[in-house]
Amino acid sequence: MATTIISGKEISKAFKDRLKKSIELLKIQKENDPNAVFPGLAVIQVGSDPASSIYVNNKKKSCEEVGIVSFSYTLDDSATESELIELIEALNVDPRVHGILCQLPLPKHMDEFSVINAIDHRKDVDGFHPVNKGLLSIGRDCLVSCTPLGCLMMLKEMNIDICGKNCVIIGRSNIVGKPLAALMLAENATVTIAHSKTNNLKALCQTADILVAAIGRSGFVTADYVKPGAVVIDVGINRDPDNKVRGDVNYDEVFEVAGAITPVPGGVGPMTIAMLMQNTYQAYLSLTQS
Ligand code: GUN
Repeated sequence: MATTIISGKEISKAFKDRLKKSIELLKIQKENDPNAVFPGLAVIQVGSDPASSIYVNNKKKSCEEVGIVSFSYTLDDSATESELIELIEALNVDPRVHGILCQLPLPKHMDEFSVINAIDHRKDVDGFHPVNKGLLSIGRDCLVSCTPLGCLMMLKEMNIDICGKNCVIIGRSNIVGKPLAALMLAENATVTIAHSKTNNLKALCQTADILVAAIGRSGFVTADYVKPGAVVIDVGINRDPDNKVRGDVNYDEVFEVAGAITPVPGGVGPMTIAMLMQNTYQAYLSLTQS
């Protein structure tokens, strides 16, 4: 059987096109309303880390594409945590803003947890706030982190069965591994979270019907980790010494064994941004309809 390439690029485009249409409709509906408010996303960057700048710019560009208003804030590396929290608190009460995203990582002198905690959980489009994390873990509606949500949406769009399947996630981060495990569990998969200290990792991965690599090590998952026909989702974005972007999966090798695989680039990455747009729209609807 030929291997299916799961194109996050194409699927994310379909999501963004749908969203764009909904927002266009909103604009037509509110044409004569002088007090109309449209979906808005505030993007905060602290410092000038080049990788963060690229991510932030891509997020702003996507806002423009779908018709979300973006508000940009850049704080100096030397800004204090209180200054950042003061900005977040102002955005929490700004009626033009429905989503607040603070690009991570933050400078070392800032406490990530305190900063995330300062965001109104209804505007937490990253799904990082403890309230959203808690709601997700008990299977309630909430804002879900964009990367794991993007992984789930790709599987759904491809009509890949999740119920009853063995899903192994390599990586236990709060951003990807843990929330993805909660999402897959809610879809009735049997989920194992593996990590760098897992015994017999390769043998465990070989049991996976759906294998997710979110380790942060270029080309870590080789063909011998993969059960023939398995679905392989590559969350990794690594820059190799040759400056090429590569995933956590050795694509060429695994392609020969897998039933379906996401490429890097063009897989999970574009889905993450599409989910951010969707979360912003969802937050807008909840904030303006309550
Ligand atoms: N840094 C790397 N990934 C992310 C993300 O999904 N959201 C934020 N806010 N920062 C990040």
